[in-house]
Amino acid sequence: MTSVLFSPIKLADLKLDNRIVVSPMCQYSAEDGSATDWHLGHLAMLANSGADLVVVEATHVERRGRITHGCLGLYSDGNEAALARVIAHCRRVGTAKLGIQLAHAGRKASSARPWEGGLGLKQDDDAWETIAPSAIAFGNAWAAPRAMTRDDMDRVRDAFVSSAKRAVRLGFDAVELHMAHGYLLHSFLSPISNHRSDEYNGSAPARLRFPLEVAQAVRAVVPRSLPLGARITGSDWIDGGMTPDDAVALAKALKQAGFDFLCVSSGGVTAEVKIALGPGYQVPFAEKVKREAGIPTRAVGLIATPQQAEAIVAEGKADMIALARAMLDDPRWGWHAARALAGDVKRPPQYARAAPKLWPGAAYRG
Ligand SMILES: Cc1cc2nc3c(=O)[nH]c(=O)nc-3n(C[C@H](O)[C@H](O)[C@H](O)COP(=O)(O)O)c2cc1C
Repeated sequence: MTSVLFSPIKLADLKLDNRIVVSPMCQYSAEDGSATDWHLGHLAMLANSGADLVVVEATHVERRGRITHGCLGLYSDGNEAALARVIAHCRRVGTAKLGIQLAHAGRKASSARPWEGGLGLKQDDDAWETIAPSAIAFGNAWAAPRAMTRDDMDRVRDAFVSSAKRAVRLGFDAVELHMAHGYLLHSFLSPISNHRSDEYNGSAPARLRFPLEVAQAVRAVVPRSLPLGARITGSDWIDGGMTPDDAVALAKALKQAGFDFLCVSSGGVTAEVKIALGPGYQVPFAEKVKREAGIPTRAVGLIATPQQAEAIVAEGKADMIALARAMLDDPRWGWHAARALAGDVKRPPQYARAAPKLWPGAAYRG
């Protein structure tokens, strides 16, 4: 039987050899937004994982939009130069195509790194003022953000555009916007975090207005040949929050705006929400978005085994799957999946002799 996971897919003019994607993963290891040697090693490792697309972590469009002091940014020439070095290295040593996730943390900015507690920074920790649709804190351990003015919205929209231009100049193969996990664009979409009394709240279409404005502005500067997507939320998991139907409405609007793909995640809109996690728990959201909005869709969340990933795409629940933690645990996940599913992956020539067809029983000629 031919593996669907190891069959190609085309997004705009980008042809991916398989449907495995390395999910964006913050490394909290940047210096004033600039990538460091950690990124060099981390991303080069994942560029040889067998996933044909590696998405670089949430990369923030303005300094104050970083989650932590260690988050990646693309708001300065220095940030761009540092990322150029990492990308050039990944292209030299790796086999995967490279995407980037552009983000603004909104009211979840000014937080400590996860291994330093992950809560809102105290003033002594060089905390900064955060911005959001409304002046409502993410949780008890975070400072209340400042409600954005229209000038703030203009500046943030332009910052997304500027970072998108930098991403295109860097030669990324795909760009995606972070519209999930309670960060700025999601916080405009969700009634939980958006309590505005102006034209950016009052109904689901009104809450969509600013994120869509950003999406359209970014689409205008990302060439149509380059796939542009977004990570959206399938559910806020809280009464009065966003629902799977809201995700479909958002997906339809983004498709209409010329977006090429969506990744459907969930949660993160307030510190209080608890999610019942289980294998593939977000797949039903991706399936609904794919079916009802008719846009290429990526599923993510507790997808860990090759058989599970294969079933999701083979049963038509999603077009691609993204893995985060399983890739950190096994950075050759794609190679091992290829062995399990009789697929094939590109390997750098130095490692060609690890190809399953050469063993067992192959003579060692070291
Ligand atoms: C270390 C780490 C960092 C993450 N950073 C991001 C990020 O930058 N952007 C994002 O959208 N999701 C981020 N996530 C969420 C993952 O991309 C993914 O959606 C989530 O971990 C569920 O997938 P998994 O079960 O395969 O880990 C991160 C997850 C981890 C474990």
